[in-house]
Amino acid sequence: MEIDIGIKEEDRKEISQGLSKLLADSYTLYLKTHNFHWNVTGPMFQTLHLLFETHYTELSLAVDLIAERIRSLGYPAPGSYKQFAGLTSLQEVTSVPKAMDMVQQLTKDHETIAKTGRAAFPAAENANDEATIDLLTTRIAYHEKTAWMLRSLLDT
Ligand SMILES: [Fe+2]
Repeated sequence: MEIDIGIKEEDRKEISQGLSKLLADSYTLYLKTHNFHWNVTGPMFQTLHLLFETHYTELSLAVDLIAERIRSLGYPAPGSYKQFAGLTSLQEVTSVPKAMDMVQQLTKDHETIAKTGRAAFPAAENANDEATIDLLTTRIAYHEKTAWMLRSLLDT
């Protein structure tokens, strides 16, 4: 059955493309944060191990909301590591950084995702897609706040 939610096809497509980049960034950061939860060492172990857990748990819920918004707009949600690698703006790591390098990387990554979310905004705004605007606003605010909190750990 044809989708008829009051948003034009080309607008739904453009919005979905922006959301797909946000999904790829969020999933990549979910995995990186979980990786750092597993592998962090040093005097800050307990603090960072638990902090990273709250972050990856939040991200694991967020990716579901983003993917399901893409589906509501009538497009398939990307869901493979290969697709995410092609869409994300984040750099993956295969080494184990020092604890504070992890914090620095995650700060940058949250900043990057805030920018990815903001880049998706105009298409949603032009189409009066309030549901996507609401989702993007929540995601941008979360990443800006989390970047601030992580950045604060880097003060010496
Ligand atoms: Fe764990």
